[in-house]
Amino acid sequence: MSEPKRYTVTAALPYANGPVHIGHLAGCYLPADIYVRYLRQSQKDVKFICGSDEHGAAIMMKARAEGVSPQEIVDKYNGIMQEAFSGFGISFDIYSRTTKEIHHKTAQEFFLNLYNKGCFTEKETEQYYDEEAGQFLADRYIEGTCPKCSFENAYGDQCENCGSSLSPTELLNPRSKLSGAKPVLKATKHWFLPLDHLSGKIRAYIQEHKDWKPNVYGQCMSWLDDAGGLQARSMTRDLDWGIQVPLPDAEGKVLYVWFDAPIGYISATKELLGAEWEKYWKDDDTSLVHFIGKDNIVFHSIIFPAMLMEHGDFILPSQVPANEFLNLEGKKISTSRNWAVWLHEYLKEFEGNQDALRYVLCAAAPETKDNDFTWKDFQTRNNSELVAIYGNFVNRVLVLMQKYYQGAVPTPNALTEEDKAVLAVLKEAPQKLDEVLSKFKFRDALSTYMTIARAGNKYLADEEPWKKIKTDPERTATIMYVAVQVAAQLAQLGEPFMPFASAKLRDYLGLDLWSWSDCETEEFIAAGKVIQKGDLLFSKIEDEQVDFQLEKLNASKESNKVETKLSPLKEEISFDDFMKMDIRTGTILEAEKVKKADKLLQLRVDIGLEVRTIVSGIAEHFTPEEVVGKQVSVLANLAPRKIRGVESKGMILMAEDSEGKLVFAEPGSKIENGAIVR
Ligand code: MF3
Ligand code: ZN
Repeated sequence: MSEPKRYTVTAALPYANGPVHIGHLAGCYLPADIYVRYLRQSQKDVKFICGSDEHGAAIMMKARAEGVSPQEIVDKYNGIMQEAFSGFGISFDIYSRTTKEIHHKTAQEFFLNLYNKGCFTEKETEQYYDEEAGQFLADRYIEGTCPKCSFENAYGDQCENCGSSLSPTELLNPRSKLSGAKPVLKATKHWFLPLDHLSGKIRAYIQEHKDWKPNVYGQCMSWLDDAGGLQARSMTRDLDWGIQVPLPDAEGKVLYVWFDAPIGYISATKELLGAEWEKYWKDDDTSLVHFIGKDNIVFHSIIFPAMLMEHGDFILPSQVPANEFLNLEGKKISTSRNWAVWLHEYLKEFEGNQDALRYVLCAAAPETKDNDFTWKDFQTRNNSELVAIYGNFVNRVLVLMQKYYQGAVPTPNALTEEDKAVLAVLKEAPQKLDEVLSKFKFRDALSTYMTIARAGNKYLADEEPWKKIKTDPERTATIMYVAVQVAAQLAQLGEPFMPFASAKLRDYLGLDLWSWSDCETEEFIAAGKVIQKGDLLFSKIEDEQVDFQLEKLNASKESNKVETKLSPLKEEISFDDFMKMDIRTGTILEAEKVKKADKLLQLRVDIGLEVRTIVSGIAEHFTPEEVVGKQVSVLANLAPRKIRGVESKGMILMAEDSEGKLVFAEPGSKIENGAIVR
């Protein structure tokens, strides 16, 4: 596409089943907001669309857990989420909800459009039914053993251990999460989107987008190429919470949440724009950009595009920038274990410091791989970058300007090489930022931005106007003129990243927000203009604040310990059963990551009799380097299986503690009693 005329930018509709945390912000909402603010400042026509995803099993499970109705759940969390987003300056043009009338209508019309064209395959299939609870079970309500990696708590739709996507009937030993009962298969009719038939078109579409981020493109390709290719997927469910399937013979059936939710982007655009909405979804010169977390890739790059293709008159997503995951203090963020930094709590505890978190989450964004947030790092970055560089520079400029000139910008004299060099940094910055921002490289963009602050800070430190004011007032005037220009550029280009500080600083300097291209200049504030005294832009994060946060996390860890249920004992086995297992000691000789599988390591293990290849789901716990040389127990006579195309012979046994951490069960390792060895 040549330069798009307008942009429809969406951020994944978060499930309204809990508050939002830093992982959401870093993965999706912050990069989307930075991008949109940048487009707006570049005077592009852009709409930023989001809202709450209020249907599906995720909501029902939360309602069940809190003992209230799904409606009460979504009302509660929609409010909390919306407040948190606006607190952090996430500048949606609309934040809607999928329970709204306009959305139900839009989603039903979309479904009927496909139905009338014969796009669906109607199929009677056997689905798991919980006889005790008297209902069909959503995929997430079924747990069992993963057929691919033997992980015992795999969900009906996905194994979180090996990352495979599953269908409930593939699970070994399925059990209902509602009643614990063994579910039974019962016939039910559903409408399937035949992704298998569409895979040629989808492949062609994906292959037109080699410009997508490698993590996204790679995941799409592996979906397309995975054994068996794309499968038909049911777009309806047997549930009593959701959007009714608009067909006469579909009582008690609702649209699959992943069918209705992305249509939510369309409904919200309608709600925002009325009749004008179509341009943003149907005109070829519109660029449709979906910001998401990595667990949403397949839905936005394969399933939703397939729906749009089938419907016919829609444009397809042109970009799907997905981030990886953010961890917290070395561990996976977990809502249920309260291992998270909640945005609504941060807003209270660090009042007025939203930009500090925006800054740190952008600087450490999980753009190309999972990344770790630690409070110590947060403090360091805030204190030694934001406060000590950006803040310090601006503060010096404001204070000296008052002291020497009562705020009136002095007329510069002849410029030295140093002056010119600094001014050149300003002039080049917008274009340099364009380059990285248009490629969704937000970390690079932020560091390019901070180069301006660094340059300014160094310039003042080198030039020492506070010494020259007595001996050389003419030179001092030039220095302060230049320094004011640097501060002004920081105020302009900082808008996408740190909008709060930017607005404050523009206010002190008496500047409006300029368009991006107008910022390609060396003079922002002419001599003679008077600027204000201003105030500090950033404040130091003290050790006590960090300690408080760490204590809070540890407290949730402690309370979890008490609550953690160790896995119950399995069915009794006979001595003969036991004797069938051949467990040997072995030493890991080599280890490497399995391509396109985040969790898997391919190992070469010496078990005395021979050296074999074993694929193990431990890559998120250990790097290849860490495991080489370790001694392990090996279940040696397990039938060989192919995992991600690699033949695995046997299984290495490790203990898993109550926090999901794996430990080598070897002499000297410490682990609580009752941990499962698997
Ligand atoms: N609610 C989903 C999640 O939190 C995301 C939905 S994105 C949409 O994972 F496209 F469906 F809206
Ligand atoms: Zn698995």
